[in-house]
Amino acid sequence: MKIAVVGTGYVGLVTGTCFAEVGIDVTCIDIDQKKIDNLHKGILPIYEPGLEEMVTRNTEAGRLHFSTKLGEAIKDCDVAFIAVGTPPGEDGSADLKYVLAVAREIGENMNSYGVIVTKSTVPVGTAAKVRNEIEKALEKRGVQIDFDVASNPEFLKEGAAIDDFLKPDRIVVGISSERAEDVMRKLYKPFLLNGHPIIFMDIPSAEMTKYAANSMLATKISFMNDIANLCEIMGADVNMVRKGIGSDARIGTKFIYPGIGYGGSCFPKDVKALIKTASENGYEMQVLKAVESVNDNQKEVLFNKVKKHFGGDLKGKKLALWGLSFKPKTDDMREAPSLVIIEKLLAEGCTVSAYDPVAMPEAKHTLHDTITYAKDQYDAVIDADALLVVTEWPEFRAPNFDVVARLMKGKVVFDGRNIYDAAEMEQAGFAYHCIGIRTHHQEPA
Ligand code: UDX
Repeated sequence: MKIAVVGTGYVGLVTGTCFAEVGIDVTCIDIDQKKIDNLHKGILPIYEPGLEEMVTRNTEAGRLHFSTKLGEAIKDCDVAFIAVGTPPGEDGSADLKYVLAVAREIGENMNSYGVIVTKSTVPVGTAAKVRNEIEKALEKRGVQIDFDVASNPEFLKEGAAIDDFLKPDRIVVGISSERAEDVMRKLYKPFLLNGHPIIFMDIPSAEMTKYAANSMLATKISFMNDIANLCEIMGADVNMVRKGIGSDARIGTKFIYPGIGYGGSCFPKDVKALIKTASENGYEMQVLKAVESVNDNQKEVLFNKVKKHFGGDLKGKKLALWGLSFKPKTDDMREAPSLVIIEKLLAEGCTVSAYDPVAMPEAKHTLHDTITYAKDQYDAVIDADALLVVTEWPEFRAPNFDVVARLMKGKVVFDGRNIYDAAEMEQAGFAYHCIGIRTHHQEPA
């Protein structure tokens, strides 16, 4: 089989590389010449564990190609994935101009039957628009070429994307013909060895599945954050409550960890987009509106604790931050809670010294020199009045707290991810604050 993947962002690059890994001939296409030049040299635009090696291996094997020329790459392809960006417009709805421009160009250049698949997260009804663009382009050329459109949402988690792609829980494909179903089944056959299913459905349902999945997960998180805040007030321990409810298989143990709010490129955007789609169609997503507002508040929870601890006056305080990315194992700063926390700390007249194992270069694009970037986690805490744990990178889980205590000015830790044991921290002499547990140093919220 021969496929093209248009867009070498996070989704496109992982998708293309993983298809090449199982022996399929893949061309990844991007309009950004610099990006393509870099990919030829093995330089990736994103950080994802294991991806760089996989790109190099498959490029060298001659199965993975990079090009800016969509027109050439699309010829004789069995499948073309559209994985370009769908940035949120001002009103929160996904902007489809890149997706539709790619569809048009495919129509202008395709020469044989193929399945054109939307892989970007797109609103219900987009595949129909893609079909329309291609039809118009073919009409203009005065040629008749059979094609199908399909919707194949991705469920990749940053930091675990390769594993998620190679061993998926399920693959969802929206199709409208048996021919397209056959092509997609053949393409995904190598990934179904772990026994998980490929689920075929109509196209609007596949498009909706992606939004429903992310919205459900975001709902779990906001619900737990709400419960955590109430636990603090009532003197309950959210860790216990989490274990207590998670053991019910209907609830499950995953995605019920309270924290400082969800971030990243998917949850915030998709929740917003679904609220918007609903309202455009005369329906109100009441639960999701609450999910979003709880999340906005949760991003401020850690800051509020800091402010309260210091009696409302933070001027001149030095705060150390461990972690900047929205979650571990990624350099992604999109919608990261750290950005909200830092903005509020700086507005109060604090200085901030941060350390993140990989996200500092990316963070500099937004934060510039408003904060200090430490050379390691211990460097960050030197003379700090307090330490804020913002991202639960593995290296922050068991630091040498004797060293930390020696280096810091104050002995206060605000743990936004509940990675430490309250009793141990207090025994080590720290004033310890976390989420959803009323510690000795933590007054009710
Ligand atoms: C998510 C979905 O998991 C994935 O299926 C989809 O394709 C894209 O969006 P991702 O954004 O990479 O993936 O991150 P994920 O690991 O799901 O975490 C999202 C956010 O939720 C992070 O900010 C994380 O810190 C937060 N989170 C997650 C919690 O606060 N508590 C939890 O229990 C789980």
